[in-house]
Amino acid sequence: VRIDWNHEQAEKGGFEHFMLKEIYEQPNALQRTLLGRTDRTGRNIVFENLGMSNAHIRDIEKITIIACGTAYHAGLVGKQLLERLTRIPVDVDVASEFRYRHPIITDKTLVIAVSQSGETADTLAALKEGRRLGARTLAITNVVGSTIAREADDVILTMAGPEISVASTKAYATQLLVFYMLAFYFARIRSTVSTPLLETYVAELHKVPELVGQILENHGQVKQYAESLKDKSSLFFIGRGLDYSVAMEGSLKLKEISYIHSEAYAAGELKHGTLSLVEEGTSVIALSTQEDLYEKMLGNVKEVKARGAEVYGIALADNRTFAKSVDNLYLLPNTLPLLTPIIAVIPLQLIAYYVSVQRGNDVDKPRNLAKSVTVE
Ligand code: G6P
Repeated sequence: VRIDWNHEQAEKGGFEHFMLKEIYEQPNALQRTLLGRTDRTGRNIVFENLGMSNAHIRDIEKITIIACGTAYHAGLVGKQLLERLTRIPVDVDVASEFRYRHPIITDKTLVIAVSQSGETADTLAALKEGRRLGARTLAITNVVGSTIAREADDVILTMAGPEISVASTKAYATQLLVFYMLAFYFARIRSTVSTPLLETYVAELHKVPELVGQILENHGQVKQYAESLKDKSSLFFIGRGLDYSVAMEGSLKLKEISYIHSEAYAAGELKHGTLSLVEEGTSVIALSTQEDLYEKMLGNVKEVKARGAEVYGIALADNRTFAKSVDNLYLLPNTLPLLTPIIAVIPLQLIAYYVSVQRGNDVDKPRNLAKSVTVE
């Protein structure tokens, strides 16, 4: 028997690229991140190693999230979850901007640094600045013992396992998961959400890894999307609320590895500028997973369709009205609208991946980019 697998191929475990392997590792990565973070009843989130006391958590007056790249996009979702569920005001800053804008930080501020590697120079510097200004600091990172983990007062680990591909996938999904758990945890301690509702959220959150698995089993349709998008020179992602934050991550994924220009837009903001770029044949990926915004999104899709756009919709399976107004529709398995980001990002990761492969790019090592940026 001739074994013609080299070391790298062996590490890819049968996948053509690390990115695809890491996309498919997401159900397990999410399971691991959930593991051990509920109490004995299974209905409440707990973070046993967190140094922050309940009194401390009740005392927080403001949260500032700092991060770069994909971790920043996780922070944008985190802001919406934390504000909605805990009623604490939350800022999200790109780490390289944070220090230079004289941020308002007090000893009642919690600074949360999000970093897969735990080594990003800008994020580290912003964390130190937050601490210098008196804030308590919490790191959400994937690497035990990393510099950011060591510098922060508290650490919550994402259990994604090593991420090799420059384009981050499973780290993002697990960062989102940590934000859900943190928001549920804080909400219970601060009594901002009723216990039965929180229990429903926790129960539904536990189903998310399986839903991600279901999406990964049916990738035929996203491959077709990728096939028809691969020769485009520009693309738009639109959404509202949580979908807008996910759209930003979908757009970044595509840019990073396919080199196609793309922009994510808050769908309601299109008419204030970007609509001028939409013409016959423009491709638009439209996310609609937020029930309270279904009607608004229909209106926004009409706006782009009226200018000749071809719309690729992504919606929850029970969103029947969307089907009639888009050109192509990808249906996600049903879940609570609050929980959709972790599942809605999966087809976007796959579209970016397949477009990049079809364009013949070096998927795992895109030009000009590094996995970890340890210089400012
Ligand atoms: C680099 C990587 C991105 C990543 C960002 C932040 O730019 O290419 O994929 O999101 O750094 O990295 P971190 O390790 O801090 O999450």
